[in-house]
Amino acid sequence: MVIPIKLIFMEKIKVNKKIKIQGWIRTRRSSKIGISFLNIYDGSCIHTIQVIAHSSIKNYSTDVLCLTAGCSISIIGILVLSKGKSQKYEIEAQSITVLGWVNNPKKYPISSKNHTTQYLREVSHLRARTNVIGSICRIRNTLSFELHNFFFKNEYYWIPTPIITSIDTEGSGAMFRVSTLDFKNIPKDVHKNVNFKEDFFGKESFLTVSGQLTLESYACAISKAYTFGPTFRAENSNTSRHLSEFWMVEVEQSFSNLNDIIKLSENIIKYIIKKVLENNADDIYFLEKFSKKNLFKKLTYCIENHFLQIDYIDAIEILKKSNQFKTDNICFGIDLSSLHEKYLVENHFNNPVIITNYPKLLKPFYMRINKDKKTVAAMDILFPEIGEIIGGSQREERIKILDQRINECGLNKKDYKWYRDLRYYGTVPHSGFGLGFERLMSYVTGMSNVKDLIPFPRTVKNSSF
Ligand code: 4AD
Ligand code: MG
Repeated sequence: MVIPIKLIFMEKIKVNKKIKIQGWIRTRRSSKIGISFLNIYDGSCIHTIQVIAHSSIKNYSTDVLCLTAGCSISIIGILVLSKGKSQKYEIEAQSITVLGWVNNPKKYPISSKNHTTQYLREVSHLRARTNVIGSICRIRNTLSFELHNFFFKNEYYWIPTPIITSIDTEGSGAMFRVSTLDFKNIPKDVHKNVNFKEDFFGKESFLTVSGQLTLESYACAISKAYTFGPTFRAENSNTSRHLSEFWMVEVEQSFSNLNDIIKLSENIIKYIIKKVLENNADDIYFLEKFSKKNLFKKLTYCIENHFLQIDYIDAIEILKKSNQFKTDNICFGIDLSSLHEKYLVENHFNNPVIITNYPKLLKPFYMRINKDKKTVAAMDILFPEIGEIIGGSQREERIKILDQRINECGLNKKDYKWYRDLRYYGTVPHSGFGLGFERLMSYVTGMSNVKDLIPFPRTVKNSSF
């Protein structure tokens, strides 16, 4: 049986036993006296294991001495406690089988240790072989798994919402159109009476920017629903926090108000971060050194302290008094810029901050109007170094007011027939939010660019796949 390297470092494998491991070479060092030291990784953990190969191995000079970084191998040997100080275990190899050579080692794109993350994005098919992307990958896995776990334990139902849709949920027009290929050259009986180019779905269709509206229809039936999947934005924002394809966790809950989902979102974030600290301590330790940030301290503080909450109007007052910005430009109604957000979160509070009750003019049509008629029951959660990670609100459940908002926002009532039906037939107070998964990962891993937090980053004028 092949042993994942992780199990050795978890002390689940007895020493002085014969084991088999498989993986890739990180480094090979060979001495003149006929011993080679191979460092092997298999992606199951941050650790490599040292394999000692003596010249008595039958393919020593033909194979072992030719191994270079990236070659894949299978090793049978005895697991022993290492006499060296730099590692706890090593394997004394009895046999080594080369599974795959690296052709032209000088051209192996990730042979050196010190590539920049920017360079690694250009080789995203190989970058998971580096320590940094390997750690990110394992942390992403824990965060995703524990999210589903949280929802399962708390009886939320997972609803896969449509990827192809005709609704622009956020009303920003930042959607990618879905078009078919030109089917001219395909035999007639395949496309029969449909003009695929224009009306495959009978309506213009796009990649979803958010599953929220369709998720609401499920929340208005099964009470607690969530979705977790890819979303797409055709925004021309080439920043460290924008992707054209990113993953979002969205929750919709009936019989709930703004405060309920504020509590819920805080609980979810704390729950999954705690699980990362429990399950991925080695990866966090490695990323702490890589990013030169004190991740353990920051994440522990985050899960042990309440997120602060302020109204948008109070945030405006703080910015006015800060003397950091031209006061003429700070007034009710302004959209908080990333500099404003940075000041609020880092200089003023230095922990996640929940900002509530934004002016209705800044927010989409579906958010519930407050009694003052000027603001909506909305919340954004801002994190240090990243800014907005969560956006959510209580939803407008009153059909008359919803219709007014659809008109005010210049939308067409007909396009929202089914959404309005939810308010006609047994309407219910309900609320929800969306959490940008790569932005949360940026906070957890200390990596400052979301392009390094999704396996295959896709941004404006930039996609390797
Ligand atoms: O604030 P947004 O636009 O809200 C919505 O889409 C709501 N319909 C969600 C809901 O209530 N169900 O997006 C939600 C979150 C943001 O807070 C941000 O973290 C992330 O999605 N996000 C992005 N992440 C990476 N790249 C982008 N281009 C993003 N745009 C939004
Ligand atoms: Mg938002």
